[in-house]
Amino acid sequence: MSKELRIGLIGCGFMGRTHSNAYNRLQNFFPDLKTKAVLKAACARNKDSVEAFAKQWGYESTETDWKKLIARDDIDAVDICTPNDTHAEIAIASAKAGKMILCEKPLSRTLAEGEEMVKVIEKAGVKNTVWYNYRRVPAVTLAKKIIDSGKLGKIFHYRANFLQDWTISPDVPQGGAGTWRLDVGAAGSGVTGDLLAHCIDTAMWLNGGIKDVSAMTETFIKERVHHDSRKKQKVGIDDACIFHCHFDNGSLGLFESTRYARGHKALYTLEINGEHASIRWDLHDMNRLEYFDHRDESVVRGWRSIHVTDGDQPYMDKWWVPGLIIGYEHSFIHQAADFFKSLETNKPCNPTFKDALQTQKVCEMVIESANTRSWKDTGVDW
Ligand SMILES: NC(=O)c1ccc[n+]([C@@H]2O[C@H](COP(=O)([O-])OP(=O)(O)OC[C@H]3O[C@@H](n4cnc5c(N)ncnc54)[C@H](O)[C@@H]3O)[C@@H](O)[C@H]2O)c1
Repeated sequence: MSKELRIGLIGCGFMGRTHSNAYNRLQNFFPDLKTKAVLKAACARNKDSVEAFAKQWGYESTETDWKKLIARDDIDAVDICTPNDTHAEIAIASAKAGKMILCEKPLSRTLAEGEEMVKVIEKAGVKNTVWYNYRRVPAVTLAKKIIDSGKLGKIFHYRANFLQDWTISPDVPQGGAGTWRLDVGAAGSGVTGDLLAHCIDTAMWLNGGIKDVSAMTETFIKERVHHDSRKKQKVGIDDACIFHCHFDNGSLGLFESTRYARGHKALYTLEINGEHASIRWDLHDMNRLEYFDHRDESVVRGWRSIHVTDGDQPYMDKWWVPGLIIGYEHSFIHQAADFFKSLETNKPCNPTFKDALQTQKVCEMVIESANTRSWKDTGVDW
């Protein structure tokens, strides 16, 4: 007989939708899972909108106060899909109530908040995961397999970009729905915590710990109207950030993120160069992994474009037939499936809170380095 995991989802925006879609798809595409997702309750502050959301995505009930959701006996796992300033309070309360936690990234606004979260979660011993979903794009998972097989040889360089262009207008406000990312109080930081956190998580997963960083940040628009006060206020987030670093394995890293790269909506790219071979990946062509191997015969040597859709490639046996692609939403379905699987195997579903805290250490030192114009050790323990 299959078991049930009763989900309480908090936050019904962009991520609320990707996660709800994931839970709904599990039964269809991962029929071997022994635990079934039950969409027990959705929570958002506005009654009408949370009720509409619950109807649309199949939740049995609604709450407008997350504390009430956590207090319910019929909730096993709390899924945190709210802005960053709420993660710590909700996660800590959930852990104390003995609930499993699936938390959106970044783990927290600051390292201190993240450390407190990890302390409480570890003490409570509850299952947890943080949605750094790009690890579960099949082409990125394949990159991990290739790197771990040693095919690249000694690694020299890791390069990543995450470029957007949606905040160039000075009329974009800070705070409020959708634009809370520009309010340092709600977000903690700008592109560093929002976008580079993804790049850092993938980088350390693929290439090991980041030892030290040297960064620069810029806030191009210094004042914006705040949604709450309706007045112009100082902008506290970083609009752009560039940092370089040393990895523990001796390789050099170069990272750039901005919301001011006109023409780019969500261009996440990564490249890793080793002694024998290189790999590169681009979110805009996410089903492909490019691979160059210097050991190939010179007559056929060149960049290969691997279409990651065969049944023996990561996760792809669950989907269509070779040659047919999947999309962004599938990375969340894969993470949900891995979380459910981890309940059967009693193994962690990475990245856990503890893993995500390492990314938080890098983010904190990136901002600190930029503010002090100096190199900073990250203290990462990978
Ligand atoms: N993994 C990813 O790729 C990815 C992508 C986007 C966002 N995120 C993360 O997901 C989180 C949410 O981002 P989003 O883009 O979904 O934001 P969003 O603005 O689209 O949605 C946030 C939702 O939370 C609700 N909310 C806010 N405060 C609340 C409270 N106190 N109680 C209940 N509901 C509350 C809002 O009403 C809204 O429904 C953030 O931490 C963000 O960094 C991750």
